[in-house]
Amino acid sequence: MNATTQAAASNQKQDATISGGSSSGARAGSVGVALLGMGTVGAEVFRLLEENSNDFTHRIGGAVEIKGVAVSNMSKPRPGVPDELLTDDAHALINRDDVDVVVEVIGGIDYPRELVLAALKAGKSVVTANKALVAAHADELAAAADAADVDLYFEAAVAAAIPVVGMLRRSLAGDKIQRISGIVNGTTNFILDAMASTGASYDEALAEATRLGYAEADPTADVEGHDAASKAAIMASLGFHTRVKFEDVHCEGISAVTAKDIAAADQAGYVIKLLAICERLVAEDGSESVNARVHPTLVSKEHPLASVNESYNAIFVEAEAAGSLMFYGNGAGGNPTASAVLGDLVGAARNKVHGGRAPGENTYANLPLADFGEVTARYHIDMEVDDRAGMLAAVAQEFAKSGVSIRTVRQQDTGHTARLIVVTHSAQEKVLDATVHALSNVPGVKAVDSVIRLGA
Ligand code: HSE
Repeated sequence: MNATTQAAASNQKQDATISGGSSSGARAGSVGVALLGMGTVGAEVFRLLEENSNDFTHRIGGAVEIKGVAVSNMSKPRPGVPDELLTDDAHALINRDDVDVVVEVIGGIDYPRELVLAALKAGKSVVTANKALVAAHADELAAAADAADVDLYFEAAVAAAIPVVGMLRRSLAGDKIQRISGIVNGTTNFILDAMASTGASYDEALAEATRLGYAEADPTADVEGHDAASKAAIMASLGFHTRVKFEDVHCEGISAVTAKDIAAADQAGYVIKLLAICERLVAEDGSESVNARVHPTLVSKEHPLASVNESYNAIFVEAEAAGSLMFYGNGAGGNPTASAVLGDLVGAARNKVHGGRAPGENTYANLPLADFGEVTARYHIDMEVDDRAGMLAAVAQEFAKSGVSIRTVRQQDTGHTARLIVVTHSAQEKVLDATVHALSNVPGVKAVDSVIRLGA
């Protein structure tokens, strides 16, 4: 096709869409938006869209207009939002003929799922910031978007405006992702950083995070790693073209990390980070599988992820051709999340005006999910033992029996007992687990205080 016929074909496609060719029929280049939710993120999305409407029109090639805002509490003041836009009937708003794109920023799972599915089935493209929803129901949502030939965007679901989803869906779509290691939860990074920089205990650092507004009143989802596990599921699914759900992600939080662990890590040249790790595993016969996990990890102070402090997020990606890339920034908050939502809204609106669809999810590779026990890592094991002749040999023998190779051993005297800190070479989780169990039964081993994986 030469340039002229190409342009003509492209114009035909555009005309068809503007005159009603798209499933929801963006009217003469104008895109109607339903905003579901008016919390911190929704309010920012509304404000930025209203204040910059001229810019959005130019960037999209058509005007974007908020047709309504669905809220649960109609009597709450909504400064700057005209009363006539507010409704507590989200379904009616979604189904309006002049709504082309639905933006979901409500949070939770069941009710947003119902609304997002209703929107997709009605032929409306959807932008959502809801990681829990996407991580739990991606198959169902992607199928509904495909059936209706509309877009499903969720950049804000992983680390707000850090372009993780777009990077995996588009920028690295031609590459082969080997591994993604991410600090994707700001609350836990703040707590671990506070423990490392002040010597505070976990409880003290959590209290400080709560006082400063980083941790929520119920911090469970953050500190137990659930929030990071949702993001790991999304990143692994996109990166490996294989469906990985929230429940497939092995998840350990930071509530058991002690000041002693942090100090030991520091002495050995590491910092402790809660990492979401998505990894492609290759067996000896060349067959591939994938694993996603979240757990406290010792990160070498030399690694770029080690210098990600306070509540910042960063995602370190290793790809076959691109090599190593790192993306860094604020991974939460009203403004950064609104930025990601608006970027998606521009994409969805452009497609409504000009035709076409964004790259959707593609799980064609359908790789097997490796059991966590099959994953290999190096381990930092801290134990309290009797300080007597033969103790080190007895401990070393347990490692030797299970075939786990020791890389370094340090001993610290603590009076009648000693602390033994063993760092291993690579071993499988299930083998290491059995070794730790055996160690705790060795006469003279008082306690295996902590086992922390080395990574990144
Ligand atoms: N609570 C999350 C965090 C942000 O602390 O990073 C939302 O995923």
